[in-house]
Amino acid sequence: MKNDKVLIFDTTLRDGEQSPGATMSHNEKLEIAYLLDEMGVDIIEAGFPIASQGDFDAVKAISDCTKSSVICGLARANFSDIDRCWEALRTAKNPRIHTFIGTSPLHRAIPNLNMDEMADRINQTVTYARNLCDNVQWSPMDATRTERDYLCRVVEIAIKAGAETINIPDTVGYTAPRESSELIEMLLERVPGADDVVFATHCHNDLGMATANALAAVLAGARQIECTINGLGERAGNTALEEVVMAMKVRSDIFPYKTLIDTTKIMNISRKVASISGFPVQFNKAIVGKNAFAHESGIHQDGMLKNSETFEIMRPSDIGLSETNLVMGKHSGRAALRSKLSDLGYELGDNQLRDVFVRFKTLADRKKEIFDDDLIALMRETSSVDVSDRIQVKSLRVVCGTEGPQTADLVLIVDGEMKAASSVGDGPVDAAFNAVKVLFPHNVKLQLYQVHAVTEGTDAQAIVSVRMEENGKISVGESADTDTVVASLKAYITALNRLLIRREKAGLDIAGISYKHSV
Ligand code: KIV
Ligand code: ZN
Repeated sequence: MKNDKVLIFDTTLRDGEQSPGATMSHNEKLEIAYLLDEMGVDIIEAGFPIASQGDFDAVKAISDCTKSSVICGLARANFSDIDRCWEALRTAKNPRIHTFIGTSPLHRAIPNLNMDEMADRINQTVTYARNLCDNVQWSPMDATRTERDYLCRVVEIAIKAGAETINIPDTVGYTAPRESSELIEMLLERVPGADDVVFATHCHNDLGMATANALAAVLAGARQIECTINGLGERAGNTALEEVVMAMKVRSDIFPYKTLIDTTKIMNISRKVASISGFPVQFNKAIVGKNAFAHESGIHQDGMLKNSETFEIMRPSDIGLSETNLVMGKHSGRAALRSKLSDLGYELGDNQLRDVFVRFKTLADRKKEIFDDDLIALMRETSSVDVSDRIQVKSLRVVCGTEGPQTADLVLIVDGEMKAASSVGDGPVDAAFNAVKVLFPHNVKLQLYQVHAVTEGTDAQAIVSVRMEENGKISVGESADTDTVVASLKAYITALNRLLIRREKAGLDIAGISYKHSV
């Protein structure tokens, strides 16, 4: 009889960060790890230490400062990856090495290993990892497209070599709920020693079934779900943490399992991940979308007023969503701002509150009424600027109107040095972006430039999203301001700063897994 505790393994900082463009800075990763730990995530996959110095440093820093969660690092099936992973993790209170190799026919062909050679490699690398660390997880990548007999054989080898968690990845989001269940059932039935380990489910959302597949695996006996906040992740993303956790809470009759997650922290971390990653949450996304609790039609509104259970299966407060939209303005004080931000899920220290209050006052001078969405945009803006950014905006003045040419006078601080330039362009935004190119020459392709009004009215803040590409590397930026040109410039600079971090990571990328290290 399996117990009813389902472990939540969050991989926002590893698989989530692999979303094209979702690069996070060192401090941003620490901030997310802190929130995951606070929320009760059992295991945080903090990164892939051999991928870059930045990944290594982030895994190390997270290992050094996390309170309760197990900290996990990813390593391919070779000794140098595992050594590097262990070096980053060894100071964690509860470290875990997660090593993997692609076991399906397509993946076996890449390192050109036959079945026996691969089995041997698994035995050697899991044994090696286990000699370094007591807590080892092993994954047969592309498990759902691996021959069943071979899958049983390699899982048995990994268990015998000391792995205590066996993760079954649906790497390309190919499986469906019934198959997901049957796979776990089969492994539990056929593999000797299977009862003594934890089976994990790791689903991708290519066919929109990641949440259903993960829950189906749990029904069959898996006791760890690998997931990300907002379902961030490669291609269509991973299983969304908020979806599986809330499904188990709301439908505990069908899913009689427990997690340690404090669900009232979900909304805050969702907003944080959206703003840091530059991947906005779609309005109709389950649980955390802007419309998830909105009731537009008259019949629904009427029913909601009489009894909220008519159209709501969970309460907004269950995920930490405040139910009021109290308007703030320029006379609101610091205490009111702190309390409002706390309702919205932002707990600020005194120094941070001081900075945010100054920005709030500036906004309130320009805009009569400040709504929840304005404050959320303000907080997103605050978190997207990093003092360690190589490029920072000092000032911008634009001339625009019917009598061209549109001109931008821009002052930037680049690597600590103040630089000024003037540029013309096809409109003020183009002129501002051209001025950036003069001050920091670069050659990127602007893939997306999008403007949305945060609230209604002509004094509304504009939220601008920018996506750029350089040699296949994608980077995104977002910024809000009542001045659309300023918001555009800041979003562009955020994306550019992130691209510079991404350049550093150019060496190794899990998407193009190279097996060049032999064991
Ligand atoms: O999707 C996948 O197969 C992975 C593995 C590295 C576990 O992310
Ligand atoms: Zn994955």
